[in-house]
Amino acid sequence: MELLDLSRQLMRRCDELGKISEERGCLTRTFASPAMGRVNKLVGSWMRAARMQVRQDPAFNLLGRWNSPQRSAKTFLLGSHLDTVRDAGKYDGPLGVLTAIAAVQHLRQRGMALPFDVEIVGFSDEEGVRYQTAYLGSNAFAGTLKAVDLARIREKQIVKARCREKFLGYAEVHIEQGPVLEAKNLPVGIVTAIAGQSRIRVEFHGVAAHAGTVPMNLRHDALAGAAELVLAAEQCGVTATVGKLEVAPGTSNVIPGQAVLTLDVRHQNDSRRLAAVKSLHAKARSLARRRGLKLLWRPIQENGAVSCDKSLTQIFSQCVANRGLKVLQLPSGAGHDAVVLSKICPIAMLFVRCKSGISHNPAESIKAADARVAIEVLADFLTRVAAVCDRRPSP
Ligand code: GLV
Ligand code: MN
Ligand code: MN
Repeated sequence: MELLDLSRQLMRRCDELGKISEERGCLTRTFASPAMGRVNKLVGSWMRAARMQVRQDPAFNLLGRWNSPQRSAKTFLLGSHLDTVRDAGKYDGPLGVLTAIAAVQHLRQRGMALPFDVEIVGFSDEEGVRYQTAYLGSNAFAGTLKAVDLARIREKQIVKARCREKFLGYAEVHIEQGPVLEAKNLPVGIVTAIAGQSRIRVEFHGVAAHAGTVPMNLRHDALAGAAELVLAAEQCGVTATVGKLEVAPGTSNVIPGQAVLTLDVRHQNDSRRLAAVKSLHAKARSLARRRGLKLLWRPIQENGAVSCDKSLTQIFSQCVANRGLKVLQLPSGAGHDAVVLSKICPIAMLFVRCKSGISHNPAESIKAADARVAIEVLADFLTRVAAVCDRRPSP
């Protein structure tokens, strides 16, 4: 199959996966859901069609392996995630898994053999929608699950997914999810580093009471307290988002007695992120005191910023330059499975242009021509990594 056909096939496959959802009328696929089971089955069949050996591990990660003809070869990992946010777009995650399959198809059709095995992983939980803990799949795979995360979930068997192999590296293709590549008129870009993030659950408890009888200065309105924190997050100097806010009892004629919200704080510089979290916590404490609210501040997850590997990033740059394209290196504000994989091997990432920079939204869109560039660059990347491995003296 020519590259053009491979990219068309990839786009059709993204469309197909975009229809597999656990919610009617929108795309939502969370960790360990029946929808994820269906997706793993379908993507597994595409891996098999690419003559890969397929398995699902105890953490619901889908793995497809292309074995090297060389005996006792090491393994290079490719992949991304197959779970989604609620009401998602169809490229965030699946694009990386399907580009990897297409790159393997492309190399195999040309009779290439690599001096390492290639393992493609479709990780099961990058978004953290189900339990508010991102990266369950990749953490289980890397053996870096934290006890607090495990305590929060029902599927305790995921610890058995730990993979003890030593990997040569991990490369992930991902939709950019921002507007930079489009503004620069480039199909792909190379990621330098991934911002660190803190996720916190915040609860304000006040007093639910009659909306018509309690004077304004005698209220303990949990939602008004939460609203102050939302505005403080907007002004805190780093990237911060309140993405979910639940108000109880949630009736027009009752003063809100309880407000529960999620706070997501990010920055490439860990000290700046941690300082912002500290000042938001102080703000929440002082406004709760002033308003007579009880505050519960529960840190849910914390990931430091990570840098991509310089040599692998350099190889991606060569592949892009080789296509006559300008090489653009850019940081990622979004989290990726590569963050976790960086704990066990060198990582690199390639971004694909995203229409209007919109992601985590059903309007997410990419061009088939850009997918074609990504397939070509990833296939070239593998052959260049192979050339470096071949030049290394054997141990
Ligand atoms: C993943 O999409 C994240 O950055 O939250
Ligand atoms: Mn996402
Ligand atoms: Mn993603």
